Amino acid sequence: MTTLLLHLSDVDEARWAAAYGAALPGVNVVRQAEPFDPKAIDYAFVWKPRANAFDGLSNLKAVLSLGAGVDALLKHPALPDAPIVRFVDEDLTQRMSDYVVAQVTMHQRLFTRFKRDQVARVWRQNYPPAAGETNVGIMGLGVLGADAAQRLVGMGFTVLGWSRTPKTLPGVRTYSGDQLDAFLGETDILCCLLPLTPDTKGILSYGLFSKLRRRLDGGPVIVNAARGGHQVEADIVKALGDGTLGAASLDVFESEPLSPHSPLWALDNAYLTPHIAAISNVDAGVRYFSQIIRQHEAGKPLPNVVDRKRGY
Ligand SMILES: NC(=O)c1ccc[n+]([C@@H]2O[C@H](COP(=O)([O-])OP(=O)(O)OC[C@H]3O[C@@H](n4cnc5c(N)ncnc54)[C@H](OP(=O)(O)O)[C@@H]3O)[C@@H](O)[C@H]2O)c1
Repeated sequence: MTTLLLHLSDVDEARWAAAYGAALPGVNVVRQAEPFDPKAIDYAFVWKPRANAFDGLSNLKAVLSLGAGVDALLKHPALPDAPIVRFVDEDLTQRMSDYVVAQVTMHQRLFTRFKRDQVARVWRQNYPPAAGETNVGIMGLGVLGADAAQRLVGMGFTVLGWSRTPKTLPGVRTYSGDQLDAFLGETDILCCLLPLTPDTKGILSYGLFSKLRRRLDGGPVIVNAARGGHQVEADIVKALGDGTLGAASLDVFESEPLSPHSPLWALDNAYLTPHIAAISNVDAGVRYFSQIIRQHEAGKPLPNVVDRKRGY
């Protein structure tokens, strides 16, 4: 009998187990704390797995990752050789694009300037640029970046995208690899939707902020909803203070939860959310991974397998 092991931290594992049980009749669904034979486990569905999560799982067919990002999972000291399937889903993608669109439109409409004027009780008519006059640069044109780009194109923004390998997307001016500086020089609002890898760690740094186009009233803006490891927070604080950046929307942080002592909390041009841009929904997750298990058991290849060498 096919057996699925759930090993989840910081989420309601019982809820996921019940939903898998209902979706996969004929599959034995076991939770980490229940007794089970490790050699009988075919699939391990994991989120923030503990050090012993994979002990004895010698017949594993796949590791199924609840997260779309696998940077932390790839650092697990006892990660087995089995293929890793990451979560790719319309619902998650829609939620991320909701976040990106909300932040981008807020900054395009010069929210920080008008909020400051409001606090100072000042009536000052500064007309925001039209969407088409605002260049939004998306770093990472994968599942999430491509969707956000398409939605922004539909709203009339001028959209640019940067990826590791060349990409073509309708209505998007695309750059790749070593064309990063050219991309930055044309970008007013920079959105990071990259995976966290050794190549992208700390990429959101002061030097990079200095290369952004300075046409948006108040200065260029960054939006990071990917991983905290992409950003150098001390650089963001400095850049928000000296005008190198006009504003920043951050959903992720170098260390989470963000320390109450972080200077970011107090900055009126920093818009902080506690890693809530997009969540992996239980119904959508169970639907997606149940289908993968059924199809793989029927001999079909696994989709969305992580390339360990690339790191995403
Ligand atoms: N805050 C949240 O709630 C939340 C939720 C879900 C996901 N996330 C984060 O979002 C990230 C992106 O997800 P996704 O599903 O869109 O990933 P994806 O489909 O794997 O796409 C990754 C994109 O980044 C590009 N890229 C990778 N390394 C690069 C480099 N060194 N230079 C330039 N471009 C590079 C890739 O280029 P190629 O196209 O050339 O391969 C690809 O376009 C995840 O890894 C995760 O960390 C955050």
